[in-house]
Amino acid sequence: MAYLNHTPAQTSAPVRIGLIGSGWMGAFHAESIARRVPGAELAAIADPNVESAAALASALGTAKVTADAADILADPEIDAVIIASPARFHAQLIGQAAAAGKHVFCEKPAGQGLDELDAALAAVEAAGVHFQIGFNRRYASDFQAAKKDLAAGTAGTPQLLRSLTRDPGTGSIPHAAKVPAWTVFLETLIHDFDTLNWFNEGAEPVEVYAVADALVEPGLREQGFLDTAVVTIRYSNAAIAVAEANFSALYGYDIRGEVFGSKGMVQAGRATETAARRYTADGMSADTPRLNVELFRDAYTDELADFAAAVRSQRDGRSDDAAPSAASYTLTPGAADARRALAVALACIESVKSGAPVGVKTAGVPTAAVTETAAL
Ligand SMILES: NC(=O)c1ccc[n+]([C@@H]2O[C@H](COP(=O)([O-])OP(=O)(O)OC[C@H]3O[C@@H](n4cnc5c(N)ncnc54)[C@H](O)[C@@H]3O)[C@@H](O)[C@H]2O)c1
Repeated sequence: MAYLNHTPAQTSAPVRIGLIGSGWMGAFHAESIARRVPGAELAAIADPNVESAAALASALGTAKVTADAADILADPEIDAVIIASPARFHAQLIGQAAAAGKHVFCEKPAGQGLDELDAALAAVEAAGVHFQIGFNRRYASDFQAAKKDLAAGTAGTPQLLRSLTRDPGTGSIPHAAKVPAWTVFLETLIHDFDTLNWFNEGAEPVEVYAVADALVEPGLREQGFLDTAVVTIRYSNAAIAVAEANFSALYGYDIRGEVFGSKGMVQAGRATETAARRYTADGMSADTPRLNVELFRDAYTDELADFAAAVRSQRDGRSDDAAPSAASYTLTPGAADARRALAVALACIESVKSGAPVGVKTAGVPTAAVTETAAL
């Protein structure tokens, strides 16, 4: 845990955090706060499935459980919230939490449309609370090492970028019929879009062309289910990026990022679970990561440690808790990063619908410039 190695000794009260949404991701975040993040305390859990929230609270020693997130937002003893509900509730919850004066960590995506996200982020700005989005790959040690190299100019001028997500699977996708439309862009590739935006920092994504299909579950193609996608992104600095995703890699959870530039190439992505290798008469083999909470266990923990430190420093008016890496490269993903990645995802959806390149509605990129680029 690179980040925690630099965390100063705690001299102030712990940050009291309320969890909103205690499913797969929320339960892991709850455990991180309760057991792995110094200076933070899991104070309450809200989930309409109150039985499962109560079971989690009991396992972690958390006192308060409620079916309604409004109870957490009204609780004066809570400093901050982690939002891990389904994505369709995120923007509204961000806005409500900010209006209640709570600092916000929100799982991706921060919203499902730019209008609702902009309203939520305006509430964050008006309240002056800290906002962080769950782009956890930034906290993985290999992605941070790559970012540090890129910030130092190791790859030179970026020309080609690549990011990929292959979720672990068995060749079929349970509950695929219940997966919300466009999940491959809004909830999966949005991680890759952030990686590409972060690796190509200073440039704006200008235009995307996306193709997507149901190759793992072709039987669901007709109802619009998508499990496989490839996206090309053109950036304002002329770099060209490719992002790709598939929901069922038989060999495990495969996440990679790469920048190729005028001076060389920088890569991130851990192919094996440990450094151990088996050499036998059949050749060489190694274990691969199977779950996101295995591959990114430390990254998920460190993003919350960063969040708690930022809240503590803002709450207490101190600067000694700030993330140590901030001086040499940017780390903490905030409002602009949430918006930029969502804008790319939404443009991908339009591109699949139209079968054509689509301009990205990033803040500050004039529509005319986008249209001109798209026509080239
Ligand atoms: N960063 C990552 O790598 C990562 C991985 C998995 C999921 N996620 C994100 O986390 C979020 C949750 O995903 P999940 O897989 O945990 O889903 P999930 O279905 O397992 O859990 C969602 C939980 O939210 C609860 N809920 C529903 N409506 C709610 C409301 N209005 N208020 C509070 N709770 C509510 C549900 O009862 C459920 O317990 C999604 O946005 C997803 O994209 C991120």
